[in-house]
Amino acid sequence: MHGSDGKVTEHLHVVTLQVQDNNPEDDEEEQETIYDLVRRYHRELKAEFIEEKEIEIVELNNGMVYPMIGLGTGGITGASQNSQIIKEAITKYDYIAIDSASHYESEPAIGALLKEDASLRSRLFLTSKVWPTDLYFQATLDSVQKTLTAMRVNHIDMYMIHWPSCYDHLKFVDCSRSKDGKWQQSYEALSKLYGEGIILSIGVSNWDEELMVQLLEEFPIKPQVVQNQMDLKTMDWDFKDYLNDLHIVLQAYSPFRGLAAGEDADYREWKKILSDLCDEIEQEQGIKVTPSQLSLRFLYENAIAVIPRSTKSQHLKENNDIFAFEFTNDHYVGLGGRDAEKEEL
Ligand SMILES: NC(=O)c1ccc[n+]([C@@H]2O[C@H](COP(=O)([O-])OP(=O)(O)OC[C@H]3O[C@@H](n4cnc5c(N)ncnc54)[C@H](OP(=O)(O)O)[C@@H]3O)[C@@H](O)[C@H]2O)c1
Repeated sequence: MHGSDGKVTEHLHVVTLQVQDNNPEDDEEEQETIYDLVRRYHRELKAEFIEEKEIEIVELNNGMVYPMIGLGTGGITGASQNSQIIKEAITKYDYIAIDSASHYESEPAIGALLKEDASLRSRLFLTSKVWPTDLYFQATLDSVQKTLTAMRVNHIDMYMIHWPSCYDHLKFVDCSRSKDGKWQQSYEALSKLYGEGIILSIGVSNWDEELMVQLLEEFPIKPQVVQNQMDLKTMDWDFKDYLNDLHIVLQAYSPFRGLAAGEDADYREWKKILSDLCDEIEQEQGIKVTPSQLSLRFLYENAIAVIPRSTKSQHLKENNDIFAFEFTNDHYVGLGGRDAEKEEL
């Protein structure tokens, strides 16, 4: 583990990659299906790079490994900007997880990059998502197919349901012709593709406990990741604990959009706390840390995966470099960590 005090490993399945530990041959009781083999093969393909670059990963509930830090691409506009940022993140700053969606502009950029250098595929963990207007069985199958074509891949590491419903309040979506689409139809389609090894893991996004209870009652395959909006101000501890018990990874999207905008009083207060702690770390440890790095590290210390987005080289670099300083219990509590968690240390 990177310079932390061990809190993460204690209760949250974050692992340093040891492929042999998960070899099903160790357990003669377990029958490995062809798709388990596919997942294991992909894990092993990534292993060398992950180990060499000391990439922090979490083991998903289906045995796949998942990077704790990925690149968010929602909001990056235009083919050339997407291509340039994704290429830089992967080749210069060692990102291996890219968060895309059928609605974003990054899928073809990933495809173009893989066309240029097919060898990158084996190290990447690619995620995309089905848009709320496509919450039907066939539309979801079509969405996955379009993603595979755009990305120039024959399987994808994770596919998510972007929103559980086509809500009218989503001002950027026209839901008028897709009101009867149900996330269940979409999940059925994703389960089928999961069974065929075309998508290697399943995620759901903008989800809550009620929906998760329903999902687990209705489907035999549990998702591996929940991607929700989360930052220092909007921590949902109960849901995090609930998912943790199910060994489902919580991933924060928009981890600092509010901080970057910083318009309301609460965020201004967080910015001040972060900036004071950064000064303190610099004085005590002689290491320069930015508020963004500290925010991401706090989420990481709570075993929450993150997918920050940036269009700037310096930010891409620092967002995937958050372990150079020691993150103490005082920092943890100062940033809103729970007392109970503190006592466990
Ligand atoms: N599932 C969903 O419904 C959903 C919804 C929203 C987002 N997402 C995913 O989550 C990703 C991240 O969320 P987001 O794009 O909303 O917001 P975000 O990553 O929280 O914030 C992006 C903003 O932070 C700035 N920033 C990034 N790194 C910084 C740094 N080190 N220092 C200072 N400022 C920095 C960026 O500006 P610069 O470009 O100047 O660095 C940009 O203005 C998305 O790209 C997308 O992949 C998913």
